[in-house]
This record gives sequence, C-alpha cells and structure tokens, in this order.
Amino acid sequence: MIEKVLIVDDDALSRDFLVELLELNGKTVFAAADAAGGFSRVADEDVDLVITDLRMPGDDGIALLRRIRRSGRTMPVLVVTAYGSVDTAVRALKEGATDFLTKPISPEQVEAVLRNLETDDGVAATPALPCRDDTEAGRSLVGSSLAMRELVDTAIRVARSRATVLITGESGTGKELFARLIHEESPRRARPFVRVNCAALAESLLESELFGHEKGAFTGAHQRREGRFELADGGTIFLDEIGETSLALQAKLLRVLEEREFERVGGVKTMRTDVRCVAATNRDLEQAIRDGVFREDLYYRLQVVNLRLPPLRERREDVPALASHFLARYAEENAVPVRRFSDDAVAMLRAHSWPGNVRELENTIERAVVLDPGEEVRPEHLDLKGGAAGDENGLPDVAANVGCSLEHVERALILKTLESTGHSRKEAARILGVTARTLTNKISRYRSEGIYVAPPRARRTPEMSVGRSS
Ligand SMILES: Nc1ncnc2c1ncn2[C@@H]1O[C@H](COP(=O)(O)OP(=O)(O)OP(=O)(O)O)[C@@H](O)[C@H]1O
Ligand SMILES: [Mg+2]
Repeated sequence: MIEKVLIVDDDALSRDFLVELLELNGKTVFAAADAAGGFSRVADEDVDLVITDLRMPGDDGIALLRRIRRSGRTMPVLVVTAYGSVDTAVRALKEGATDFLTKPISPEQVEAVLRNLETDDGVAATPALPCRDDTEAGRSLVGSSLAMRELVDTAIRVARSRATVLITGESGTGKELFARLIHEESPRRARPFVRVNCAALAESLLESELFGHEKGAFTGAHQRREGRFELADGGTIFLDEIGETSLALQAKLLRVLEEREFERVGGVKTMRTDVRCVAATNRDLEQAIRDGVFREDLYYRLQVVNLRLPPLRERREDVPALASHFLARYAEENAVPVRRFSDDAVAMLRAHSWPGNVRELENTIERAVVLDPGEEVRPEHLDLKGGAAGDENGLPDVAANVGCSLEHVERALILKTLESTGHSRKEAARILGVTARTLTNKISRYRSEGIYVAPPRARRTPEMSVGRSS
C-alpha cells in the first residue's frame, strides 16, 4: 500500500496540484522544491513513492533519482516529463525510474498509475533482472554491430519499467523480436505476452478483439468475450502495425494507455487493466500525423521510448553472424550437413542490399539449405534477386555496360566492396584479389579526388535514436 508520497517540483503550481490530488486520494504527502530538499525527505521519512519533476534548477530529477537508487532504496519513483523530452526520460529509466507522468498531468493519469503501483505488490520497484541468455528472444537475437548492441542494451534497460515502447523500422528488421525481448526481460515475463496485429482486422472487429464485448453487443455476439487487454493483464500487449488503426480506435487506445481503463464493446462497466504496452509500425507516424490519420497525443504517449531498428543494409557487419545463425538453425531443422559459406558466398551476402531485411536474409538461407548444397553454401545456392545491385547508399552501381571505362567499373567495384566489408581494407583486398597496398593506393587516390569520403565510423547512420529529437 502506498501511504506516504513525496512530491519534488520547483514549480509551486504543479507541485500544489499534485499535493492536493494525492491528499484527495488519502495519502500523506510531503513536498520539496528541489532535489536536495527531496533527498533529505527521503532519508527522514519512510516514503512509499516519489514523484519528481525532471527539470529543476540545481540538481535535476535524474540526479535525485540516482541518489535514491545509490542509497539502496527501491521504492517506486515516477518522473514527470514534458512532451518531447524523451531523451531525458530514457536516461531516467536507465537510472531506475519506475514510470512516467507526461505533462499536462491529469488526475486520471495519476490515479491510474497509483492504482497500478498498489496492485503491483512492489514488482515495479527495481526487480531482479534476468540475464539475456536466459530468455528465448535474448538467445535468438543476433547482432554485434554497435547499432544492435545499443538497441539491445536500451531494450533491456527499459524492460524493467512500465514505460510504453514504440518500435519502428522497415519490414523484417526485427520489431517483433524486440517486443518479445522487452517482455521476457521484464518483471512481467511470467504473465502473458499478447500480440495483436492491428492491420489484420476490420475496425469493428479489432475493437472487440482488443476490448472484448458483451453478449448481444452486435449481431453475432452470442457470448460475452474477453478482449486482449484483459487477457494480457499483468503482462505485455504488443500492438503490431499500430499505424494502421483508425482515429476512433486511437482515441480508445490513448485512454487505456493514460488511464488504464476501458469498456467492453456494448458494455457499461469500466474495466481496469494492468498491461505494459509495446507498439510497432513500419509507417512514418510523423508523416501520418501530418496527413491527419494518426493522433499526435497518442504518438507522444507511445513513443516515451522509441527503438528505431536500422535496416540491415546499414549494419552489414551483422550479415555474416546472422547468416551463420540461420544456417545452423535450418541445417538442424532439415537434418542436412551444411556447415559453412564459401568466401564468395559471404561476400555476396554482404554486398546485397536486403530490401526485406533480416527476414529476407533468413528466407534466403533457408532456401539455400533446402537445396541441400553439401557442406558448403556457394553463390549459386543463393537466390538473390538483383544480386549486389540496389543502391540505397548513393554508391555507384557496379554495372559494366559498354560505354563505361574500365577505370569507372573498377572504382565502383572497389567502393562497393569496401562498403560491404564494413571498410575493412584487408578483407576487401582479399575479395578483389589485389594486395592491400594496391588497394590502399587506389583509396588514397579516390580520397584526393573526393570520391571516397567515408571513414568507417562517420559513415554509420545513427544506430539508435530515442525519441523525436533525432
Ligand atoms: N537481430 C536478429 N537476430 C536474429 N533473428 C532476427 C533478428 N532480427 C530479425 N530476426 C528474424 O527475422 C524475422 C523477421 O523479424 P520480425 O518478425 O521481428 O520483423 P518485423 O520488423 O516485425 O517485420 P514486419 O514489419 O514485416 O512485421 C524473424 O524470423 C526474426 O526472428
Ligand atoms: Mg512484425
């Protein structure tokens, strides 16, 4: 039970609002105007909950949170964030914040969070974390690129909070895998993970699928039926393809997210639910907002934490490991003795642009394995449409048409190979069949001509970005 609450906020107006609201809810409330005052309250009183503003003069909310956690205290701490300050919000999560209140704070929002904390039996208070290797999604997730390591790291850290996570990325980049990872790494892992594909159902069906319906709610509703939000109680709901929902449904989703309340279709009773929501889309939601088909307030509520999964072509260094992972899996599944890729097969895989991302790679490897190539997968087993073409990175295509100079083709091939090897000169030279010195000479000429301007690090696109600032 939460009895004593501490409010820390330098703004008297919003502080008093919270104090009053919590007193109305029967709590004993303490207030402080800065982090130092807040911490001494924490030290003196046995507070059950801290609500702190993030931005305050002097030490901010994060500093306070860190001090509380360093002192070994595990009570829930809620941070108050403004729209758009998601970077700080994620930092707060990493420091052990329990959840967020987003400004403008409504009484319903606060009461919903309180109710949840009280029915949580303290699980929200810094639970012991499972190890990534212990979870199914954690084990099956491959990726050693900086981009992937950072994403996994963030996912695991946010998993322990209740924060809503929005996962964006092209088709086949691993959104669902990350959603499962977040669930399995969370204190909710023993409870259900419920996926709803919002694009698969017509609007009215989707509504009753999500919220359930009462008997007689519509023609064909012969029985009362529980919705996915009820089934997911205590666990995680994964709203896949959320960009495809209608504006009317978005309004209902916003209410569940903010107040954790809903009604069944045709029902009058207000239901409460304790679910953690993870949403995914490959749609550009900011564009959808501009087009008037997605609610801005829902967007901000969803993307408290935004994991942006980069397309595979932007992290080609992950291709070999992923390919080996799928090779091992499908060789075992099909009981064939395929063990490795030939060097030119690896080069081909790396050079491909993977418009279908990891899923396309997985399918490619599965097809190769099914062809039963013997011990080694060679280029002829890889059915890559368009081969090494595809050119999202603005590099010249390696097209050898009559009319091209030899020099042009050579340059294009060298640049392409460098790119596909993650700018490893040694590997590129090996693939091209030239000495490292020859390659280095050519590279310095390209550099001086301004053609090769791509030092490996600077070339990488932002691996993970959080929130809208990026
Ligand atoms: N990093 C990874 N390591 C191992 N397997 C991966 C990885 N990323 C994706 N996969 C695999 O690739 C396939 C596609 O991933 P997933 O279904 O999560 O993509 P998605 O982003 O949800 O795609 P879509 O937008 O089409 O629904 C799955 O079989 C998944 O297990
Ligand atoms: Mg998916």
